[in-house]
Amino acid sequence: MAEENSAKKAANPDYDLERPISSTTGLRQGLTSYGDAHFSLFLRKVFIKALGYSEDALSRPIVGIVNTYSSFNPCHANIPQLIDAVKRGVQLGGGLAVDFPTISLHESFSSPTSMYLRNLMSMDTEEMVRAQPCDAVVLIGGCDKTVPAQLMGGISANKPIFHLVTGPMMPGSHRGVRLGACTDCRNNWASFRAGKIDIEDISAINEELAPTSGTCGVMGTASTMACILVGLGLMPFKGATAPAVSATRLRIAEETGKNAVLACQKLDELRPQKVLTRESFLNGLTVLQAIGGSTNAVVHMMAIIGRHPDVAGTINLDTVDEIGRKTPLLVDLKPSGDNYMTDFHNSGGMLALLHELKHLLHLDAMTITGRTLGQEMAAATLLEVPRELSVIQPFDQPLHPSSSLVVLRGNIAPGGAVMKASASKDKRLLKHTGKAVVFAGSADMAKRLDDPNLDVSPESVLVLQNIGPVGNPGMPEAGMIPIPRKLAEKGVTDMLRISDGRMSGTAGGTIVLHVSPEAADPGSVLGVIQDGDLITCDAEQRILHVDVAEEELARRMEARKALIMGAESTAPWATRGETRGYRGLYLRSVNQAQDGTDFDFLTAAGPKGN
Ligand code: FES
Repeated sequence: MAEENSAKKAANPDYDLERPISSTTGLRQGLTSYGDAHFSLFLRKVFIKALGYSEDALSRPIVGIVNTYSSFNPCHANIPQLIDAVKRGVQLGGGLAVDFPTISLHESFSSPTSMYLRNLMSMDTEEMVRAQPCDAVVLIGGCDKTVPAQLMGGISANKPIFHLVTGPMMPGSHRGVRLGACTDCRNNWASFRAGKIDIEDISAINEELAPTSGTCGVMGTASTMACILVGLGLMPFKGATAPAVSATRLRIAEETGKNAVLACQKLDELRPQKVLTRESFLNGLTVLQAIGGSTNAVVHMMAIIGRHPDVAGTINLDTVDEIGRKTPLLVDLKPSGDNYMTDFHNSGGMLALLHELKHLLHLDAMTITGRTLGQEMAAATLLEVPRELSVIQPFDQPLHPSSSLVVLRGNIAPGGAVMKASASKDKRLLKHTGKAVVFAGSADMAKRLDDPNLDVSPESVLVLQNIGPVGNPGMPEAGMIPIPRKLAEKGVTDMLRISDGRMSGTAGGTIVLHVSPEAADPGSVLGVIQDGDLITCDAEQRILHVDVAEEELARRMEARKALIMGAESTAPWATRGETRGYRGLYLRSVNQAQDGTDFDFLTAAGPKGN
């Protein structure tokens, strides 16, 4: 009888009450707490069996698939097919694939901005990855803030993560000219505002700017973050550029599923906090500069790095600038150049680019496959593309010699500000002094910008205050201040513009962004700039300066602080402690752009760096 019992227990170890449940993998990890682990496992199996799983299936390594499909997110419209393909890959590898939802963010359907919700998505990702019994996870994202949110959450949860982006959309066409969201959204809207194209044209263009599912087809934030994922070693080479609607993307999804199962055999080696090192992030920043990537990516990278306990504090905005000084712009894509992501893909994509950048990269940086970046590059076949058909420039014939993205400092931005110098339309403005025309916020700008009596000239410097992380929660992409209509109608297409906000990665112009500290901070110089103050921006010397005596700035700041912090004040800075819900959490916890606008309690260092 005793022998029979022990044989039964050996065959059904989950019901052997004398044997502790100690597994940290598969279905047996992270049990819900009922005070009786055997019962917790028993109950878990009761419920998952309702989905028809067998004991064999439940004994396999589990690959979670983060599903960010939403009917409000056309950039993620292909996710159902991608999930099918990832599942196929997981099954081919002998694992069990389980998909689950998290928040989905689309740029145009997130009010006030998707940036406002990025940290919420990262918390959702971190906690659901941690809470559920997955050994490794495939993170399917794509639209701008989704990839940073997933990477931030993934690093903090520290289970092996495999990114799979939805991929870029195809370009459209109008009157024989190719179009793509969203650089051409902005260019054509500016032409419409200036009266250069009529209502019929703008309405026809509206139908063509996003002709398929997928992410914006230029080097916007989504494409930038996808390319950086490859540089970080978290995604296959073709993963960044294969069109959303291509069969190649489905094969990448299948490969990703297979790789995720393989990772389950060496979980501890492939945790993101182990795979990602300082060198990985330096590679990511080199890619960012070489592709002329989105300014948003600088904010995201600071937040992502801030999540890594061993790398946080070793890379900052100055590192981004230093890397820029030795990295040329090599990829000819809008908004810095002329082409689309499909052209980049057809030119050899990230593999071809990484070969051009080889001597700047840390090739011994580990990747999520368990092989180094150099080993992966050596193993992949690089097909030559005729020079005249490629949008990737050779290293010695760059589109822009260095520093696509520059970091400016000065009395306006002691914590730093970022400018995409390669996207300047009027390069003379990269070294410019002019009189400030100040708008106190987005509403003030909307009211006065097109006023025919606005005292503004092409040499003026447009300053927009109070669109920073706290001042206008979510730090809107309003930094590309439109050219005042009366100047646009005269053919002015670029002016020096400065703000504490962001701009879309698909936008261009001579535009200084992310000024830290932001204007809402009572100690900010940006907040006290007045009409007529002389501002100097010198991209080469990395200077952003307002020519006002220190004593006068201090006097203005003192007066403004009394207003902001006064008893009657409704300023976001003053009311942070009394605001309810997520908005209150955001206002109390968000850090400045120079630190990535992450929540202080989510960083590796924890609240207020303690
Ligand atoms: Fe989703 Fe541009 S709106 S990537």
